Amino acid sequence: NGDLFFAKTIEEWYDKNRRELPWRDITDPYRIWISEIILQQTQVAQGYDYFLRFIRRFPTVETLSSANLDEVLQLWQGLGYYSRARNLHQAARQIVNLGGFPKDYKNIRALKGVGDYTAAAISSFAYGLPYATVDGNVYRVLARVFAIDTPIDTTAGKKQFAQLAQQLLDKKRPALYNQALMDFGALQCRPKSPDCTKCPLIAKCAAFASKCVDTLPVKQKR
Ligand code: ADE
Repeated sequence: NGDLFFAKTIEEWYDKNRRELPWRDITDPYRIWISEIILQQTQVAQGYDYFLRFIRRFPTVETLSSANLDEVLQLWQGLGYYSRARNLHQAARQIVNLGGFPKDYKNIRALKGVGDYTAAAISSFAYGLPYATVDGNVYRVLARVFAIDTPIDTTAGKKQFAQLAQQLLDKKRPALYNQALMDFGALQCRPKSPDCTKCPLIAKCAAFASKCVDTLPVKQKR
């Protein structure tokens, strides 16, 4: 059916176009968590070195939990949104108190600073659990392929996209599929002037067919 075609196309594209990144193809929930928090408001190119430095200084959740907050903030210098670093430090203590990294979505989502996106990323990448990651890349791809003009920054929009994303998820390979869709959004279905002639979904893309690629996704607040 259509959902399987979508997943298969994205995964085949990823196989040929994937980026090698230090937080890829690992299952350590600690490293995955750190990488996703860094990448929340930071581009991959900028976050890359911060991630490596952070992991070198704090290789485990125990080392982070026993660190001074000042040192964590110092490592974060230049990344901005310092509440992320404070939350990481607090959550590290939560995790150590729990006796280890939580292993299911609900308990991962309960960690300080972990929202739906990060909980889905850790659940799928570290534990292979079937949760779709819905970030800016995913909103853009889905809004275009299915020509959805519901604003993504509304309650109704978030619900609609989350439901569609979960329906499209390859439940057999959630980690691979989630990574693939993120890269597809970042590299192929780019925000500005995407090269649709190179897109494997061109024949299925409702936005391309109706010439509205550049107007999707829609944001309401501004
Ligand atoms: N942006 C946020 N998370 C990412 C990931 N896991 N890989 C690439 N880009 C990302």
